Amino acid sequence: MSTFENKVVFVTGAASGIGHATAAYFMARGAQVFATDLNTQGLTQAVSQWHEQGLPCVAYTLDVSDPSACENAMSTCLEQFGRLDVLCNVAGIGQLTDFASLSIEDWERVLRVNASSVFYLCKFAMPHLLAVQGNIVNVASTAGVVGLPYNAGYCASKGAVVQFSKALAVEYADRHVRVNVVCPGAVATPLAKQLQPPPNANMSLYQRMYPLVQPVATPNEIAHTIGYLASDDARFVTGTVQIIDGGQTAI
Ligand SMILES: NC(=O)c1ccc[n+]([C@@H]2O[C@H](COP(=O)([O-])OP(=O)(O)OC[C@H]3O[C@@H](n4cnc5c(N)ncnc54)[C@H](O)[C@@H]3O)[C@@H](O)[C@H]2O)c1
Repeated sequence: MSTFENKVVFVTGAASGIGHATAAYFMARGAQVFATDLNTQGLTQAVSQWHEQGLPCVAYTLDVSDPSACENAMSTCLEQFGRLDVLCNVAGIGQLTDFASLSIEDWERVLRVNASSVFYLCKFAMPHLLAVQGNIVNVASTAGVVGLPYNAGYCASKGAVVQFSKALAVEYADRHVRVNVVCPGAVATPLAKQLQPPPNANMSLYQRMYPLVQPVATPNEIAHTIGYLASDDARFVTGTVQIIDGGQTAI
């Protein structure tokens, strides 16, 4: 089993779902985790449970759509732990809307939270990752590789994460900072539970979002892939777009 002893991992979206499972995965393998989320209450609850189990982490409230907040968070992580080995950009939002109802405000928000945030944190993390030959794992979605109905804003944001990550992987390969992307399909999390098709949705198109394998993925299953990509076992893996979707995009 890969070990993350003496490694420091920065995780966004750590209060819930995939981010929560990812933070727990790294701590269980010896990492110290800088656990961030916009939801202070959810984060405090998660971190106090981890502290009760003796797991080493620091909680930090962060709105990833705010660039100066991202810069401050990165500085605090470095002050606390003195190094950064892995950045996991997991936080995200989703909403199903038909294109005609997608407002300019919703478009800008989903791009800021899901895509610009990844740019901000990678930018502020990169000098520290270069110092230790660390790596980045970004969470996009199958919506970043295929067109999904009622998801124009979300698809645009996740497509941006996929292409941004590949560009960064290429630019930093010779300096040994790896950058990989995970693209989950359906995962049982609060985000997925609140998604409803818009009124008058074409349900035959909507089925494009269903996996062939049931039941849908657990957050832990996604965290395991994130953990592999972040580990030394994946030394030769960079610029990869790892789809985990129960066959959703295979047909
Ligand atoms: N659940 C799925 O089916 C699924 C599928 C594909 C991709 N994803 C992606 O996985 C990631 C995690 O989603 P999840 O399903 O675990 O959802 P979730 O809602 O359980 O967790 C998302 C977390 O992100 C946090 N967050 C939201 N906006 C934020 C902001 N501005 N700043 C900081 N934190 C913020 C939330 O508070 C929450 O704790 C997202 O990027 C999502 O797009 C999820």
